[in-house]
Amino acid sequence: MTQSLTIRRPDDWHLHLRDGAMLAAVLPESARHFARAIIMPNLVPPVVTGQDAAAYRARIMAALPEGADFTPLMTLYLTEETDAREVAAAHASGLITAVKLYPAGATTNSASGVRDFNAARPVLETMAEIGLPLCVHGEVTDPEIDIFDREAVFIDRVLDPLRRAVPGLRVVMEHVTTKDAVAYVTSEPRDLAATITTHHLVINRNHILVGGIKPHYYCLPVAKREEHRLALRAAATSGDAMFFLGTDSAPHTDPLKESACGCAGCFTAPNTLSILAHVFEQEGALDRLEGFTSLNGPAFYRLPANEARITLTKGDRVTYPSKIETGDGPVTVFDPGFALHWRVS
Ligand code: NCD
Ligand code: ZN
Repeated sequence: MTQSLTIRRPDDWHLHLRDGAMLAAVLPESARHFARAIIMPNLVPPVVTGQDAAAYRARIMAALPEGADFTPLMTLYLTEETDAREVAAAHASGLITAVKLYPAGATTNSASGVRDFNAARPVLETMAEIGLPLCVHGEVTDPEIDIFDREAVFIDRVLDPLRRAVPGLRVVMEHVTTKDAVAYVTSEPRDLAATITTHHLVINRNHILVGGIKPHYYCLPVAKREEHRLALRAAATSGDAMFFLGTDSAPHTDPLKESACGCAGCFTAPNTLSILAHVFEQEGALDRLEGFTSLNGPAFYRLPANEARITLTKGDRVTYPSKIETGDGPVTVFDPGFALHWRVS
C-alpha cells in the first residue's frame, strides 16, 4: 500500500484571493502548496483593464509571505466594453494568462459580466487568433431555468454555439458540476478543457440540504445529484488530460455565509491536497493525482510543469483549524465530513 507519494508541485487553475485583509489572510494557504494559480478577477470593482491586473498582481506579490514561491497568473474580467487590442497587449506582455467570462448575474460579483454574447465577439475572435484561453463560468441566468439545470442548459444554449461561432477559441469550462459537462468536454477533441473543484468531488446536494441547511457547502455552480458527483470523480481520476484542478477556493466571512441570504463559495485552500489524496486513494487512482493537480493544467495552458516536488504521506489524522481569522472576520474551512490522513510533508 502506498503510504507516500511524491508529485510535481501543484497549480490551482481557479482561485479567489480577494483583496486587502482577506488577501493577506488567505494567500499563505494557497502559496504553501501551490506554485501558481489562475487568479479570478471578480473583485469589486472587477479587474477589467491591463492596468487593473498589473495593480492587483502587485498587491498579491506584496502580500506574499517571506520566501514563498508562488506566481499569480492574472486574468481579465470580460465585459461588453472590453477592448480586443488591450487584451492582446496584456497577453503579449505576459501580464495575463486568461480572460474570464461571467454571464451577468451568474455568481458573486458578476454584475458587470456579459449579457449580449455578440458584443464580446471581437475579443473572443482575437483570443482565438492569439491562443489566449477563455475561462467560462458556465451557467445560464434565465430565471425560468431551474438552478440545478443551469450548467447543462448553458452548454446547449451558449457554450456550444459560441464555440462554433469562434472556431479555435480555447475554452476552460470552470468548476464543472454535471455529467453533462463531463460528456461535453470528453466529446470535443480540441480546445476544450474543464476544471473540477475539490468540494464537488466530495459533496452532492444532499450535503447542503438534508438535516438542516449547511451554508458552508453552498457554492456556485451548486452541487448536484450524486450521479453527477460520481461523474466528476470518474473524470478527475480518469487520467484524461482535459480535466484538471481548479479549487475555486472562495472565502467569505462567516457572517456573510451564515445569513438569510448567504454568499456562495467554499474555502478549500487549507486542506485541498489532503482531501484530493483521500479521494484519489478511494478511487484507486493515486497514480493519477499528479496529472490532475500538476500536469494537465500546464499542458492546456501551454506552460511548463513545475520542477519542484512535494511529498504527500499518509499517517495519523491530519488536524487543521475549522476556521481562519482574517482582518474582515473568521472564514470557515471546508469540512469534507471525513477524517483526513494525507499530509504534505
Ligand atoms: C465564487 C466567489 O465567491 O467569488 N463563488 C462560488 O460559489 N464559486 C464565484 C464563482 O466562482 O462562481
Ligand atoms: Zn470561482
